[in-house]
Amino acid sequence: MIHDWLKESNYTVIFTGAGMSTESGLPDFRSTGHGLWTKQDPSQIASTEALNNNIDAFIDFYQTRVQHVKEYQPHKGHHVLADWEQRGIIQSIITQNVDGFHQEAGNRLVAELHGTLQKLHCQSCGEKYNSHEYIDRDYYCHCGGILRPSIVLFGETLPQQDFQMALAEAEKAELFIALGSSLSVTPANQFPLIAKDNGARLVIVNREPTELDKFADQVIHGRQIGDVLEEWNSF
Ligand code: APR
Repeated sequence: MIHDWLKESNYTVIFTGAGMSTESGLPDFRSTGHGLWTKQDPSQIASTEALNNNIDAFIDFYQTRVQHVKEYQPHKGHHVLADWEQRGIIQSIITQNVDGFHQEAGNRLVAELHGTLQKLHCQSCGEKYNSHEYIDRDYYCHCGGILRPSIVLFGETLPQQDFQMALAEAEKAELFIALGSSLSVTPANQFPLIAKDNGARLVIVNREPTELDKFADQVIHGRQIGDVLEEWNSF
């Protein structure tokens, strides 16, 4: 049925969360038993508070994540989505992920709601750096300021350009497919509802139940995203 919806839809938007990248080897945040936030309190590590008052733990945590993003790569599910954009089967991706794997796989129209680990910027002067150049050294700018990943920390506002793009895409969607997100973090989790309110069909693919399942036209639990996308890829 969803394969038919994909064929019928003139405007399909994909929304992804950390579950999109676990098959690449990256941990997610809330998977029962092994998500990152089941072992650490995000407010102690992924917040401006941590950046200002717990800098060693902050740098340790993000140096590891930048290292992982450098070592791992997109999996078959990312490549299906890139192929679908090329062929006009989907129009865009709205992602909460900061690994850059959608762009690495070849997708061009990607709204990164929570920024990216691929870039760093200086806390003091704002100078931008490519995180891959700074993986093995102290995170300090030429000006002496602290370099931080260009991601959105808890308590910070989302990048306006990506937010506005995501809003426009959600409003245009005829089919909106959420992949690998618990849909528990605002304002990101509003986009599936905005799409639904604008007449889209909403599909949720997630190993575990999500907070928005009750609003979906179709929900798939207990399956690996890579397998589901491969199965749908029979155009
Ligand atoms: N296939 C299908 N579902 C999966 C897979 C997989 N291979 N791997 C994990 N999942 C599911 C998990 O069951 C989980 O419910 O993906 C979901 C990921 O949810 P979260 O870990 O909450 O990640 P996400 O929704 O992206 O979190 C949103 O929270 O901490 C912030 O900024 C961070 O962007 C992140 C935001």
